[in-house]
Parts: sequence; structure tokens; C-alpha cells
Amino acid sequence: MSLVLDPAAQDLLFREARTANTFTDEPVTDEQVEAIYDLVKFGPTAFNQSPLRLVLVRSAEGRERLVRHMAEGNRPKTATAPLVAILAADNEFHEELPALLPHFPQAKDMFFAERPVRESAAGLNAALQAAYFIIGVRAAGLAAGPMTGYDAAGIQKEFLDGDHTPLMVVNIGKPGEDAWFPRSPRLSYDEVVTTV
Ligand SMILES: Cc1cc2nc3c(=O)[nH]c(=O)nc-3n(C[C@H](O)[C@H](O)[C@H](O)COP(=O)(O)O)c2cc1C
Repeated sequence: MSLVLDPAAQDLLFREARTANTFTDEPVTDEQVEAIYDLVKFGPTAFNQSPLRLVLVRSAEGRERLVRHMAEGNRPKTATAPLVAILAADNEFHEELPALLPHFPQAKDMFFAERPVRESAAGLNAALQAAYFIIGVRAAGLAAGPMTGYDAAGIQKEFLDGDHTPLMVVNIGKPGEDAWFPRSPRLSYDEVVTTV
């Protein structure tokens, strides 16, 4: 009763949505990914810094190169998902900042002149955007399988550069046979919330 979002949408985004471990071979199109991005780009980041970057792995050759860097147990998922995306944080996001924050362009030099500050900010804010992206995948009627079980340095070298830090690999598609483990319990409101 307290939520205004339609209950079917609540189910689609959260209650019924699961982390898929297998997928059908129904393709995920560039149009779907663009629609997802055009929705979730509105999720908030500090100073609107928007540091998330995506690499869509579409070619068979790219897929093979990626699978090699995944942990053993993750390889079959990454090998068979219709689409796999590498989500990364751009540690040089400040270059875009004056355009992204036109009412306060000085923020670039005032707050983000130093690389360690940028790395910390990019890590937090790109992780937020990665979460928005996962929910956006669900909004498209697809399932996401986020994974961090991989050789991060290997993925960075193979697909990114020194300015981009891998955050996670996300398998995307329609859930296949035996797509999930039993739902694990979540902490209750009382276990996580304190009020002062
Ligand atoms: C950042 C992140 C990293 C994850 N890494 C892996 C992984 O390497 N391998 C894997 O099988 N699942 C991985 N998972 C999946 C989680 O175990 C799964 O999302 C969680 O248990 C919730 O499952 P549910 O959505 O089906 O309830 C990861 C999830 C997230 C969000």
C-alpha cells in the first residue's frame, strides 16, 4: 500500500526477478540495450559524473577472449548468454564533467584534479550505475547475471585500458532451463535499519 509503483512492475523489477545462470538463445538486440541505457542514464550520480562505460561483447572472437578470463564456474554462463556486457568505471570521467554539469563547470578542477579522488568517485558512482543497469535489464523483460568472478587485470588489459577499471561482467538474455538456484533469504528490515 505504501508503494505507488504498479505491483506487476514491482514483481518484474524485484520480487520475481532473479539472477539467471542459463539462457535461451533468443538474441538481445542493440535496440534493447540502447533502450535500457536511455532509461537508466537518468539514475543519479555525484556531480552527475556518469562514469559507467559498457563494452558489449558480440563477436565470437571477443566472447572467446572474455571467457578465458572468467573463473572456471562462470565460463559456461559467459559462453552461452545471448549478450555479455563488461561494465567499467571511467577514472577520467572529469573530462566530460563540464558538459555534464554546465551550471558548475569548475567542479572538474576543484574536486577531481587528483587521480586517486577520481578513482574512488568513479568506483562508487559507476557501481551505482551498474545497479541501475541491472534493474533496467529487468525492465526490458530480460534477466541479468552479474559476475565478478574473473581475472580483473586480464579483462582490463584485454578489453579496456589503464583509465578504465572493470566493475562486473553481466550476462543478459531470457532465462533458460534451470536458470536459477533456490532464492536465498534476505535480511529483514529490522535487521538492517536503525533509527536515531
Ligand atoms: C556484483 C555481483 C557479482 C557477482 N558475481 C557472481 C559470480 O562471479 N558468479 C556467479 O555465479 N554469481 C555471481 N553473482 C550472482 C549473485 O550470487 C546473485 O545475484 C545473488 O545471489 C542473488 O540471486 P537472486 O537474484 O537469484 O536472488 C554476482 C552478483 C553481483 C551483484
